[in-house]
Amino acid sequence: MSALQKMMGWIDDRFPLTATYKAHLSEYYAPKNFNFWYFFGSLALLVLVMQIVTGIFLTMNYKPDSELAFGSVEYIMRDVDWGWLIRYMHSTGASMFFVVVYLHMFRGLMYGSYRKPRELIWIFGVLIYLALMAEAFLGYLLPWGQMSYWGAQVIVNLFAAVPFIGDDLSLWIRGDYVISDATLNRFFAFHVIALPLVLIALVAVHLVALHEVGSNNPDGIEIKKKKDANGIPLDGIPFHPYYTVKDIVGVIVFLMVFSAIVFFGPTMGGYFLEANNFIPADPLKTPPHIAPLWYFTPFYAILRAVPPMFGSQFPGVVAMGLSIVLLFFLPWLDRGKVKSIRYRGPIYKIALALFIVAFVGLGYLGLLPPSPVATILAQTFSVIYFLFFLLMPWYTSIDKTKPEPERVTG
Ligand code: HEM
Repeated sequence: MSALQKMMGWIDDRFPLTATYKAHLSEYYAPKNFNFWYFFGSLALLVLVMQIVTGIFLTMNYKPDSELAFGSVEYIMRDVDWGWLIRYMHSTGASMFFVVVYLHMFRGLMYGSYRKPRELIWIFGVLIYLALMAEAFLGYLLPWGQMSYWGAQVIVNLFAAVPFIGDDLSLWIRGDYVISDATLNRFFAFHVIALPLVLIALVAVHLVALHEVGSNNPDGIEIKKKKDANGIPLDGIPFHPYYTVKDIVGVIVFLMVFSAIVFFGPTMGGYFLEANNFIPADPLKTPPHIAPLWYFTPFYAILRAVPPMFGSQFPGVVAMGLSIVLLFFLPWLDRGKVKSIRYRGPIYKIALALFIVAFVGLGYLGLLPPSPVATILAQTFSVIYFLFFLLMPWYTSIDKTKPEPERVTG
């Protein structure tokens, strides 16, 4: 027995290292027909790690103080060795996190990955999505630029629209009557420690749930139904080395895109970093046009599409909240006989296409200043967005599906 084997034996007697490695990697059987849509889960993990590591280094020079914050970010950009790289990796990482997560969620919609027995994977996913939105919103206040300040002002004021408790609620969140140093300090605390812990915990349970039931696949059929004499799924292959190696391809392509943005266009024309945020926060000067970053704009457009009632924005706030809450119910709204888009009928395909057009359309409209035409369009898209969910039990049950194959196809 070699020294290495002896050491492993010593560890295994005290800690299930080999057993865990086998259960989750070398003897964890994943469907053999994964396509590129299955890259985005591991890419989301990669971005999570990158955000945490770059975030730790940013914290070494950032000052969470309304007098110093803006200057400390400029200091990181100009004077700290490689500070510009760390900061641009973090700001680009924030947007790329949403790119990756939106594609990851879309894959779930296409292949019915949220359906039984994966409801909990999906629910943990929606919770991750909520935590990610909170994390991005809180982080955006930290550079203390004009958009940080006024964006936070607009969003925290939404809480003031809640009947009866609204004013107290928004005051409690801000810790002051306006966004101030107290707000910056608490947003910093939540951004650098509270929410990252929540995110890591949620990702952990997301993966535990995934490994309990096993992955879905582009055919939407359960590989565990057909096993060989040893109990190994006939259409399964060990995660390691097959998918660890395959995921490297996704990582390389992703890093090429990521580096191109970081090195050649870190602001992405204002979509990843807004021009107004290079101006220090001025509580006395409201920017003429306040729009959130692109990943929030679909929901911002829904908020603005709903007209105020008795002078209160509350109905818009409710619609915006509902548009996300509905995601939780997806596993029970879908009554289709098959999971994957490959075997669905035309109605689901049209519904999903319309939903994507509506979501992207809302995202675009949310970037624009309000206008009568934009409002009517946003209202139309919002109705489509909600109908996708609310009519789902009906249209998925009448849709003419194709028979699923017995075994996974290519
Ligand atoms: C930090 C964010 C996230 C990370 C790190 C993450 C990680 C992963 C990983 C590694 C997988 C397995 C590989 C794959 O299927 O791509 C996975 C699967 C899955 N994730 Fe996520 N995820 C995240 C967010 C989300 C969100 C926001 C949702 C949905 C709202 C979601 C829903 C799912 C579903 C349904 C599966 C199973 C897919 C299938 O088997 O077809 N995830 N996730």
